[in-house]
Amino acid sequence: MGPGLRRDDAYICSMNILGIETSCDETAVAVVADGSPPTIRANLVQSQLAEHAPYGGVVPEVAARAHLDHLDRLIRAALVEAGLGLDDLDGVAAAAGPGLIGGLIVGTMAAKGIAWAAKKSFVAVNHLEAHALTARLIDNVAFPYLLLLVSGGHSQLLVCAGVGSYRQYGSTLDDAAGEAFDKSAKLLGLPQPGGPAIEAAARHGNPRRFPLPRPLAGREGCDFSFSGLKTAIRERILATDPADSETVADLAAAIELAICDALVDRTAAAVRRFRAEYPHGASLIAAGGVAANARLRTRLAALANDSGLAFIAPPPALCTDNGAMIAWAGIERLRLGFADPLDAPVRPRWPLDPDAPGTMKPR
Ligand code: KG4
Ligand code: ZN
Repeated sequence: MGPGLRRDDAYICSMNILGIETSCDETAVAVVADGSPPTIRANLVQSQLAEHAPYGGVVPEVAARAHLDHLDRLIRAALVEAGLGLDDLDGVAAAAGPGLIGGLIVGTMAAKGIAWAAKKSFVAVNHLEAHALTARLIDNVAFPYLLLLVSGGHSQLLVCAGVGSYRQYGSTLDDAAGEAFDKSAKLLGLPQPGGPAIEAAARHGNPRRFPLPRPLAGREGCDFSFSGLKTAIRERILATDPADSETVADLAAAIELAICDALVDRTAAAVRRFRAEYPHGASLIAAGGVAANARLRTRLAALANDSGLAFIAPPPALCTDNGAMIAWAGIERLRLGFADPLDAPVRPRWPLDPDAPGTMKPR
């Protein structure tokens, strides 16, 4: 049992859980019901893109205030859509880290308030664990599985051995894959979030017109690096000065392909290690916002197929940040009897595998 957890006396076998996600720039609330299969009874996401657009990036203080503005309304709307009152809930789960501290405080304080007032269990969810477990919400995938977790702030390859049990094979040495998409989009004059914008622009582009490097390709280990690629992309865009839509499309296609190639190469190394170390492991899972990318999904499906693994990726709306994944992680933890006390802290840094080399200890 991890630190700060306690084992509830009663094992709960059927539950309705409210999930609250406020770790970055989406305010998201969902209600998920346990069962086979589980049911997403409501799943609402309020993007803060408009609030952050004038600043060219996510401003933590603006994000915290926007969460505060949107959260109560979204909680009410999610309960109405689910057809439930607070009394019908079995627990309230909120992302307690990693992420921006202001937003984490807003979400967890709301969840704790409801849990206290309605006398329900509270679960402090690790946002990364929620991404990691989403495949079990949609497909009841058995542990252990290999996970490529790629989002705006994280790029990791992990073995998911059980709820609360993760082993990191590799991580980014510098930037995350999502960040490479977002920064590239900005340089190309495309809107944020950059991933979907690059994907759309790349659709009719020629990915071979502009050669770009494939960082760490073929190298030992399973780590990623995107900062060199980001510099190469910037230099390529400055040298090209893309004024016509065809050049933008070709650059977007080259960027998408380079990032996908890098992710697939590192994942292939992880698959080899996973097959050797976990011969009974049967699945490769992709999660996090970048896993919504269709080109990446196709490539990972082919890799899994060639390696004798099943490939599972949540539908795009459950890859990007959402409340259903938080509610589901709450269900997974409460099913094991784990709940958290109402004084559980938020954790802006919260690695899934604290023993991984180079991991900064949580604050
Ligand atoms: O998981 P997520 O919603 O938030 C974080 O926890 O960071 O991931 C957001 C990231 C952004 O960088 C966004 O550009 C990227 O996921 N993303 C995509 C796509 N959809 C979202 N990247 C590539 N292709 C997409 N279709
Ligand atoms: Zn995320």
